[in-house]
Amino acid sequence: MPDKINVAVVGYGGMGAHHVRELLKMPDYNVKGIYDIKEERQEYARQNGIHSYDSLDELLADGVELITIATYNEFHKPIAIRAMEAGVNVISEKPVTLSLADLEEMIEASERTGKLFTVHQNRRWDDDFLTAKKILEDNTLGKVFRIESRVQGSRGIPGDWRAEKVHGGGMVLDWGVHLLDQILMLNENNPVVSVHANLTYVTNDEVDDGCYITLTFANGLVCYVEVATNNFYSLPRWYILGENGTAVIKDWDLNGKIVMVHDWDKIDAVPIKAGAGLTKTMAPRTNETIKDVPLPQVRANWSDYYINIHDVLRNGAKQIVTHDQLRRSMKVIEAVFESAEKNTVVECNI
Ligand SMILES: NC(=O)c1ccc[n+]([C@@H]2O[C@H](COP(=O)([O-])OP(=O)(O)OC[C@H]3O[C@@H](n4cnc5c(N)ncnc54)[C@H](O)[C@@H]3O)[C@@H](O)[C@H]2O)c1
Repeated sequence: MPDKINVAVVGYGGMGAHHVRELLKMPDYNVKGIYDIKEERQEYARQNGIHSYDSLDELLADGVELITIATYNEFHKPIAIRAMEAGVNVISEKPVTLSLADLEEMIEASERTGKLFTVHQNRRWDDDFLTAKKILEDNTLGKVFRIESRVQGSRGIPGDWRAEKVHGGGMVLDWGVHLLDQILMLNENNPVVSVHANLTYVTNDEVDDGCYITLTFANGLVCYVEVATNNFYSLPRWYILGENGTAVIKDWDLNGKIVMVHDWDKIDAVPIKAGAGLTKTMAPRTNETIKDVPLPQVRANWSDYYINIHDVLRNGAKQIVTHDQLRRSMKVIEAVFESAEKNTVVECNI
């Protein structure tokens, strides 16, 4: 078996073109070409020197060992199953698909055909996420009782397929999928016991343009996930609260800091005037009892994702994004939609 993997990309839009660009840089991959339903995107590929197949079947029959699917979301499932049945391994873009039932069909196809099936959860390699993970792993803050993870934009949903239900649009299935996956990865052995979600429809009616999700875990940890598209002033990307300190990761570039209590015994609370009253509880601490600590700054390499896939296909390594993780994530997403629709807390054990 040649060491290089013959790979092709289905759906040559923004993300498909990104995959092609990155795969062209990787020595372990040979990019065979792309297929897109739009003639203009096929033409664009040719202009970029990328071979464009006339049909999916032609692509699947041309010695392609692996495809990455970067189409609209509702096509991930049929294309993935068709590819695996044709003997081709599959990476699907997120969201893997639109329901748990669909996901089970995809997993069944993978088990039946023996083909790799996994999902591009690339935000597991985000520096900000890995920095948050390190703060938790190092127990820097003592017992953590709340994690808030937010992304906030101000442009609504892009005016493309993401605004249409038939294509699996909406922000829960877009950014929500990433943020929930990250939170679940921070809590691998800690089941979600309840989900509460509100969805927003500020800029359009058909699909949600934002979500506010609270997950409670078996150990009492509460995680709050927010995706918003109508915010003209943004809150920090991460806000992590522990018994001995607070970590703020402001953005993807790792601006932020950790504020730690270093002297619990010193009583420095002097009542202050606050608004129309006095408060000691909310009085700011003096520098005698707290100290600023820099963020650990973890840097990652996204190409590790494709390096792992190569390792899976050539050396039998374990795939990083597993079927069980995808199932867990999809169950949480279904609980999010149920909670928002009924405006209730969904109790679960996920
Ligand atoms: N992991 C990430 O960070 C990330 C970022 C952006 C998008 N995505 C995902 O990538 C996918 C594509 O998003 P995008 O932003 O590139 O959208 P896009 O609209 O830019 O591109 C989608 C492309 O797929 C093509 N297409 C649609 N149906 C097809 C089919 N049945 N067969 C072949 N081609 C088809 C369209 O013609 C279009 O060119 C989505 O699933 C999205 O969620 C992931």
